[in-house]
Amino acid sequence: MGDLVTSIPTLNPGERLLCGPGPSNVNPQVLQAMQLNMNGHLDPDFWDILVDLAAGLKALWRNPDGLSLCFSASGTSGMEAGITNLVAPGDKVIAIHAGFFGARLADLARRHEADLVEVTAPLGQIAPLEAVEAALRANPDTKLVAVVHAETSTGVRYPVPELSALVRQVTPDALLMVDAVTSLGGEQVEAAGWGIDYGYSCSQKSLGCPPGLSPFTVSARALEVQKANKHRGPYTYDIAELARYWVDRPITYHHTMPILQYYALYEGIRLGLEEGLERRWARHQDAGQYFQAQMRERGYTFLSDPQHQLWELSAVNVPEGVDGKEVQGKILRQFNIEVGGGLGPTAPPIWRVGLMGVNANREAADRVLAAFDAVLPR
Ligand SMILES: Cc1ncc(COP(=O)(O)O)c(C=O)c1O
Repeated sequence: MGDLVTSIPTLNPGERLLCGPGPSNVNPQVLQAMQLNMNGHLDPDFWDILVDLAAGLKALWRNPDGLSLCFSASGTSGMEAGITNLVAPGDKVIAIHAGFFGARLADLARRHEADLVEVTAPLGQIAPLEAVEAALRANPDTKLVAVVHAETSTGVRYPVPELSALVRQVTPDALLMVDAVTSLGGEQVEAAGWGIDYGYSCSQKSLGCPPGLSPFTVSARALEVQKANKHRGPYTYDIAELARYWVDRPITYHHTMPILQYYALYEGIRLGLEEGLERRWARHQDAGQYFQAQMRERGYTFLSDPQHQLWELSAVNVPEGVDGKEVQGKILRQFNIEVGGGLGPTAPPIWRVGLMGVNANREAADRVLAAFDAVLPR
């Protein structure tokens, strides 16, 4: 038998500038919100908070109809919930992917016994719309098309409006599921305008909140599909059950929410709306493009096809002969700055630099650039 300790050390995490693929640093005002009086999850005053939060989520997703709520778990739960709510075993799903998170989406569809069709491309590219069109035409019985809007593993943006138009034209009854984990709050996401039937995100990237929540949005027609789905997925992520808690009154207990996390999300969204979504997107764009231009000037190149380059996240190719992990470690230890490396066993040697949430500005970019310059002199 092993030994049991009688105490553990006082918690003392070091200060970090979080410029990896997420989490980003928590906005100090968001942290303050987590120190407000905690109500219980069945307190009528907390229900009022939820009503305002749901209104904020609608505004954030730009979806006046349907439902915009949140799962009490990280972005992966939003991904899984999309499949379990909207797909029954044997349903045809087209997963479009060229990166770690898109591949995970396909994997989840497979786990839930969907009849899976995959449309892929090399890392750094997007799966071409022509290939998607061919897959749609070959599979007119498609129930769901799933794609990652901002692929954090490669720094690539998928053209969701064009995809949506194609899906509506070729297979109008198929639902469109979009991963907006990295994009929501950091660039334009228009759930209603782009015809997104189910979108999910996270709290810890462009929204500047702590990790652990997954805001989602569902269209009215996807809600009908969910209601008619005879295959009931996990109770925890059942959208209809969750809505009975968030929307129906008197409230029906679903689960004990992590209330302080929800205060944080509330404040994060309140601040986002106060800043103005367009201004916030422009701030992310400016920071990312500034960082990329500065890196290019230094001779660095990027994994992503420039036509589809994200600005929230830059996947920088590690130059020949450089040990990427060592550089990443030095930047962390000498400069207290977190940048990411490649994700998954097939990732090429890259650094992933995120400028999201409170870090989406040129000052944070300059700190990262200075760290690269010091560790890898030109
Ligand atoms: C595009 C994308 N999808 C899904 C996820 C999973 O989110 P989480 O780690 O919050 O579960 C991530 C996380 O980085 C992501 O970047």
